[in-house]
Amino acid sequence: MKKAFIKSYGCQMNVYDSGRMADVMAAEGYGEATTPEEADLVILNTCHIRERAAEKVYSELGRLNVMKRERAAEGRETRVVVAGCVAQAEGREIVRRAPVVDAVVGPGGYHRLPALLREAETRPGAVDAEFDQVEKFAALPRPSPERIRRGVSAFLTVQEGCDKFCAFCVVPYTRGAEMSRPVAALLEEARGLLASGVRELTLIGQNVNAYHGEGPDGRAWSLARLLEALAGLPGVARLRYTTSHPLDMTDDLLAAHAAIPALMPYLHLPVQAGSDRILKAMNRRHDAATYRRLIDRIRAARPDMALSSDFIVGFPGETEADFEATMQLVRDVGFAASFSFKYSPRPGTPAADAAGQVPAAVMDARLQVLQAQLEIDRQRHMRAMVGRTTSVLIERAGRHPGQLTGKTPYLHQVQATGLAAAIGDVVAVRVTETAPNSLFAEAVLAGGDAGREAA
Ligand code: SAH
Ligand code: SF4
Ligand code: F3S
Repeated sequence: MKKAFIKSYGCQMNVYDSGRMADVMAAEGYGEATTPEEADLVILNTCHIRERAAEKVYSELGRLNVMKRERAAEGRETRVVVAGCVAQAEGREIVRRAPVVDAVVGPGGYHRLPALLREAETRPGAVDAEFDQVEKFAALPRPSPERIRRGVSAFLTVQEGCDKFCAFCVVPYTRGAEMSRPVAALLEEARGLLASGVRELTLIGQNVNAYHGEGPDGRAWSLARLLEALAGLPGVARLRYTTSHPLDMTDDLLAAHAAIPALMPYLHLPVQAGSDRILKAMNRRHDAATYRRLIDRIRAARPDMALSSDFIVGFPGETEADFEATMQLVRDVGFAASFSFKYSPRPGTPAADAAGQVPAAVMDARLQVLQAQLEIDRQRHMRAMVGRTTSVLIERAGRHPGQLTGKTPYLHQVQATGLAAAIGDVVAVRVTETAPNSLFAEAVLAGGDAGREAA
């Protein structure tokens, strides 16, 4: 049997897409390889978000070139495909820079991958960069039960693309315009996931809370309505969604957080910066005060809500005072976890040509200061869990005998002892201790407040 190795870079959208590409290739008779060495087909599912992410692809292609030649000498064929956001952004340029590549396919064309590979047999370097999301989701095979059974938690792409055009970001160009999948298709896919043992669904999209898919009643359903429908499916223990834009945090979505117990009280809501001048230059279309008010409203709807965010330091024109405004916002909100990046100018985005590019050393210094504060806040949030009863979705056996490991509603990894639970169960535990990146917990005796916080 031929085997395919698929490597994912970048965000959860790519993780989901890689699974779907594996399903497409399985229908063509390809098994899954765990290393490039044992594969006949290597697919790199790439990310274009920052320069370093995009450049990784070319170093990987260099290694694959050596491997392909060595194998060719032994009479063995290796085919190499570049998929994902670099494929969409650079297209034919990839083949020019790296002739090792047999085919290039953007995120809109994964259902056409087998046809593209056949085309590449006679025309190496074939490129498919058409946006065809609607047809893609209709044509892709459903996720295979074998793949799903590997975990209790699964991603479900509900929305793809972005119309926001933040001045720094390539996503509107690499993923195209916003589109939402129809509710019926999502419920069907969710049922399949749940039937194969999934307990937690994370709905994903570049702008997931802009979801407006067609409902069974022919009307556009909001993310809140979709969540409500999913919460009603048998077997659902936990629901999450990511990534949200502050402008699309509608009232019905806030209400859903209060009304749907399965919806976890943890929200990734990127703000990027705390200075109004920079937010405006970024074309974020909200100011810092609006974001702060939104956080207050979210916490009013769901008092145990924790928040995480993304930050960019060194956006063109960022002064010390602008950066201090970001630090102030960080201190005020107190995020449970965050991602932070140095601004990376991306080809074709408005900010790449903007005046006032910030020197690398200044960005480095600001990133260090920001990350130190974010780490303090993350640790504080973890320490606040100690002594509390919380729920854990059990994923697998733990590090030591008698331990089980899983995640809290806030995605902390927990090592728990004394539980009579199976994989996929949601159980109440009391947190006893923190380690830098995980929590320790013990069983909560039945009765008392045992199940109270269980999801
Ligand atoms: N759709 C999401 C995430 C987009 S990409 C959103 O709207 O928030 C993930 C993160 O990468 C962004 O939130 C941003 O913080 C970061 N990012 C995007 N473009 C970047 C760039 N040019 N330089 C540095 N960081 C960037
Ligand atoms: Fe990029 Fe902004 Fe769209 Fe997020 S909202 S994907 S940061 S353009
Ligand atoms: Fe990267 Fe594309 Fe995701 S650029 S972050 S893989 S949408």
